[in-house]
Amino acid sequence: MRLLGLACGQQEGSAEVLLKAALTAAAREGTAVEMVRLTDLSLVTAATADARDDAAWFCDQLLDADGVIVSSPTYTRSAPGALKLLIDRAFGPRTDVVFVREALARREHGRAEQEETRSPLGLDTAPDPRVLKPRVAGFIAVGGCPSPHWRTLTLPTLHALAFPLHMAVADQMEVPTPGGLGGIATDPVAVARAERLGGAVARQLGLPHDEVRFLGEPGTCPMCHLDLIVLRGDHAECGTCGAEGRFVVVDGAVRVDFSPTGTASSVHTLTELDAHYRELLGTAALEPDPQEIDKHAAAFRDSVRVLRPPRP
Ligand SMILES: Cc1cc2nc3c(=O)[nH]c(=O)nc-3n(C[C@H](O)[C@H](O)[C@H](O)COP(=O)(O)O)c2cc1C
Repeated sequence: MRLLGLACGQQEGSAEVLLKAALTAAAREGTAVEMVRLTDLSLVTAATADARDDAAWFCDQLLDADGVIVSSPTYTRSAPGALKLLIDRAFGPRTDVVFVREALARREHGRAEQEETRSPLGLDTAPDPRVLKPRVAGFIAVGGCPSPHWRTLTLPTLHALAFPLHMAVADQMEVPTPGGLGGIATDPVAVARAERLGGAVARQLGLPHDEVRFLGEPGTCPMCHLDLIVLRGDHAECGTCGAEGRFVVVDGAVRVDFSPTGTASSVHTLTELDAHYRELLGTAALEPDPQEIDKHAAAFRDSVRVLRPPRP
């Protein structure tokens, strides 16, 4: 079993210290561990499209692994933008279990019938069967601010790395860190908690998604175990995973009740990933004719002056 760590903060910073504590504990369970530093990766945007891009390399490392632990600092209440850029560049439909399952089935069908079967959603380039292997994830979030509302969006952002691949989250933790590079090393409780997380992930590597037990704090949402709740119309929605619930007041305190139908809309379920795929198939079928788009979009093409930074 191979466990990959992704450190998203400074080299030797607090996020990296906790990741190493978790990976070392995982290694004690007999797991092969390695880590990647986000700051070592070159990730491109459109402006630097001709530069080296390590997103595909990272994706390959992850697909070779049976699990991942991501440890991230908090920047402006969320995870660093570079992590979101990595997720956007490396993942998407080509690492979505349903897209890949459907593409592989279409390829098999095409072979059997000796006909070319094109994907209606444009995933024709070699679907990678490694996407379908069971994987376990663990998440660590650190922040410099003691107040938890300064870290609200960090763990939810990390979940974006897990759900398209239908990874089972075994544990997650969020801690404030004292100042100083690697300052969290002086907090034995946080280090021990990270070690527990590493063990929880390592011991469950290879298990099918639904057999992995979540060993962290239960949280409000029974699916992602986080507490980010959105008021959508008259119902409650988990802001991290989309599970649907109902606000109820019990003894003057607000709670959210999640029914089995509501939890089925969590992006952590295959039911929802399937529904999402079918919804996109429906959207693709309704795509307007390119000439029609061109006719209507022409009015916007040069309507606003675009500023660009000078280049040497
Ligand atoms: C640009 C920036 C924004 C930050 N914003 C927050 C924040 O919103 N909430 C918080 O708790 N800490 C915030 N911090 C503090 C970092 O999360 C903290 O210093 C952490 O230890 C950095 O992780 P590292 O030591 O692994 O690099 C911010 C730090 C930087 C550099």
